[in-house]
Order: sequence, then structure tokens, then C-alpha cells
Amino acid sequence: MTTLYALAYLLAAILFILGLRQLSSPRTARNGNYTAAAGMVIALGATVPQLHFTGAGAVIVLVGVLVGASVGTIGARQVKMTAIPQMVALFNGAGGGAAALVAVSELLTFGSHPPINEALPSVFSIVIGSVSFAGSLVAFAKLQELMTGTPITYPGQQLVNGLIAAAIIGFVIAVLAIASIPFSFLSLMVLALILGVAFVLPIGGADMPVVISLLNAFTGLAVAASGFTLNNFALIVAGTLVGASGSLLTKLMSDAMGRSLRNVLFGAFGQVRTTAGAAAGKEGRSVRTSSIEDLATLLAYSRRVIIVPGYGLAVAQAQHAVRELADLLEKKGVEVDYAIHPVAGRMPGHMNVLLAEANVPYEQLKEMDEINDEFKDADVVLVVGANDVVNPAARTSPGSPIFGMPILNADEAKNIVFLKRSMRPGFAGIDNDLLYDPKTIMLFGDAKDSLTKLVNAVKAA
Ligand code: TAP
Repeated sequence: MTTLYALAYLLAAILFILGLRQLSSPRTARNGNYTAAAGMVIALGATVPQLHFTGAGAVIVLVGVLVGASVGTIGARQVKMTAIPQMVALFNGAGGGAAALVAVSELLTFGSHPPINEALPSVFSIVIGSVSFAGSLVAFAKLQELMTGTPITYPGQQLVNGLIAAAIIGFVIAVLAIASIPFSFLSLMVLALILGVAFVLPIGGADMPVVISLLNAFTGLAVAASGFTLNNFALIVAGTLVGASGSLLTKLMSDAMGRSLRNVLFGAFGQVRTTAGAAAGKEGRSVRTSSIEDLATLLAYSRRVIIVPGYGLAVAQAQHAVRELADLLEKKGVEVDYAIHPVAGRMPGHMNVLLAEANVPYEQLKEMDEINDEFKDADVVLVVGANDVVNPAARTSPGSPIFGMPILNADEAKNIVFLKRSMRPGFAGIDNDLLYDPKTIMLFGDAKDSLTKLVNAVKAA
């Protein structure tokens, strides 16, 4: 029987790895979810019988599984695409909290002097799991606008956080070296919860996806540590995979934004900064606008159009409208592609998920490195609700917060059309010189409205 359980865990681990592999491409991501979920069902199926629960214990486990599965299914089905980051934060926090509670219950069974091989992973789980739980709840509250999304800072904040961290280290030593009594590890948990809150408070709402990814990695590590405490192979593998992939994702996201993780966590950058100058457009500079009909003619008679989707596409929910326009242009013989910047939008893969929802063919979605040399051949670049990802300041202004961030070469196209509502900046809060470029035409308005008008005008062109 033990061999059978071990084989089931091995199969679950293989399915987790395959699932992660499939998640790396939008074409296979949906199946990746199913594959990993199948792995989790197998892992659960192998774990529950080993618990040998009877009576009330069995009922509690069954109710737990039913409640968890219902909340997960209903939550995932009902959540809006733009609210996925906060849903991930909530579920991730639940994972971290669960790992911490498992560790507490294990320590309670060992008495006041647990063996070090049991106490060490338990203490690790309590600290990291609690930080992840509390930090994820704050991240959720910021993104859900239950609290302000701007960084909350006060004088001496780093010192206070440092003191909390020092107190945690003190309690860790106390639990491991002196005595593991409920007072010591419950105090540890409370301090780690406070640190989780204190750590996320000074980070701006728009930086939350990076923080959530980091907290996700924390949860993975806490779960892996629980696996050592419980001697459960599936938990160790799943936790390590989450820890490793979360860490890599955090690094990739920071790199794609051209910022160090240190800057994201401690730079208090990411607050909503709409300076009056930027909102009004630069003094004395004018922008070019055009009629819908003229723009429709420009698009319909182009040979090649590249669409650059951004955060505004998600806000306007314009994914279906943009696809309709692209289909129409293709019918008129125009070659259409979508240029996907790795941090367009507000979460990893935001644009891919959005466009997949509108059934945009995957072969039309081109990653930045794949398409960046092709902008010079494009007759029109249609920038739909994007801003920072095409802002040349990333190349030319060393003082700019986005300096160093790789951008899409939209400025190399023959014509650039921006669909946005105003001259307001994007997430980075800085002016975009491309809006004032003589090759640029502004079409002001909600992206979905503008696209619908363009579709009608292209039909008539
Ligand atoms: P942004 O630079 O944020 O620009 C979005 C633009 O969309 C804004 O200028 C806004 O202008 C426009 N907009 C908003 N609602 C609109 C609507 N209903 N219709 C039309 N336009 C609308 O977006 P981006 O180019 O996608 O860049 C993403 C930014 O977010 C980067 O700076 C990136 O570093 C950051 N970020 C990304 C992530 C991930 S993982 N993707 C995570 C955190 C931060 P108006 O207000 O004038 O309409």
C-alpha cells in the first residue's frame, strides 16, 4: 500500500511539472490547469486515506474538501478578468495561512522540546506562511480598493520593520533552542502576521502583481516546509515548484519593468502619480487628431497593421471589438498582428488571456522579441490603451522611472494611432513623447467605443 501511495505522489508530481510546462504558452495554458488539477486530485486521493480518520474527523475532512472546492470553483468562475490578481492574492494567502496552522498543530503534538528536524521546518512554515497570509490580505485589500492603493509610509518605517524582523529571529531562536511552548510559537505567528502587513503597506497598488508573485513564492516555500514536517512527498514537490516558479516570475516581472525587486519593494514607486503637467499635456506642444473616417481609410488601405494592446484594453473590455476590427482588416487583405509586451496590463500574461477570451488566433500574438524588428515595415501601429510599453523615454531618458525597460518599437512604424481617453500618463506616471510625434494620430475616447466606431467606418470604407 505504501508503494501505491508513493507511486500516486510520483504521478501527481509529474502532472504538476507537466501542468507548469503547459502554462508557459497561451495555446496550452488551459490544459495546463487541468493537468495540474488532475495531479492535485491524485495527491488528495492518496493523502486522505492515510489519515485514517473516523467519525467526526472524517466528516471535518469531507466538509473541508467540499467547502474549499466550492469556494474555489465559484470564485474562479465568477471573478472578472481584471480582478484576477486580487483573487490570486486571496487564494495564495489562504495557502500560506494553512501551512502556518499545520505547523502550529504539529508543534503542539511534539511537546516542549521537539526534535530539531521537526521544529526547524515548522518554525519556517509559521514565519513564512504567516507573512504570506497577512501580506496577501493587504495586497487583496489594496487591489479591491478596500483600502488606499497608494503607499502607506511613515518616518522610521524601515526601522520598525527591522525591529519586528529582529523580534521574530529572537522568537525563532527561543522556540528552537529553549522551549517550544504555545506562548513562543503563537507569539512568533503574531509577529510574522504583523510583519506581513507592515511589509506590504508601503508598496503601491499597481506594484501588487509583483508582490503577489513574491508572496506566492513564500507560500510555496511554507508549504514545502510543511511537507517536511508532515513527511509528505507531494507537499514538498508542489511547494518547491510554487516557490521556484513564483521566484522566477517575480524576477521576470521586475526585469520586464526594468526595475530591481528592491526598487519595487522599497522604492514606494507605483503610486498613482498623475501630475497636472502630464495630465494636461506638455506646455506648448500640440497633438494631431483625425476623423474616424480618415483613420478607417488609413487602416483599410494599409498593407501591414500591428496592434499594441495595453492596460486600457482591459479597462475598456475592448478585446472583442479589437478582434472584430482585426478580422475585418484581414478580410480586406491587411496583414494584422498583435505585439505583446511582457508587462502590458497589470498582471503576467494579461493581454494573452484577454485576447484568448476573444478567440484571437495564437499565431497573431507576437512576443516583443519576435516582432520588434518588424515595426519599421508596419504602415500603422494601433496602440489600444497602452502607454508605458511604447514610451521612448525608456530608451532616452536616464532619469525616467521606466529607463532601461525594454519597449515595443512602435515609434519605428510609418503611422502611429493611439486610442486612449486623454493625455493622462500610464502606470509609470510620466509623459510620453510618442503622443506628440508628427507621425502620431490621437483618437480620444474609451477604447471599446473608438474601436466600434472604427469597425463601422472600415465596413463603409
Ligand atoms: P499603461 O502605461 O498603464 O497605460 C494604460 C493607458 O490606458 C493609460 O494611458 C490610459 O490613458 C489608457 N486607458 C485606460 N482606460 C482606458 C479606456 N477605457 N479606454 C482607452 N484607454 C484607456 O499600460 P501599459 O502600456 O499596458 O503598461 C503597463 C504598465 O503597468 C507598465 O508600466 C508596467 O510596468 C506596469 N505593471 C505591469 C504589471 C504586469 S505584470 N503586467 C504589473 C505591475 C505594473 P487614459 O487615461 O488617457 O485613457
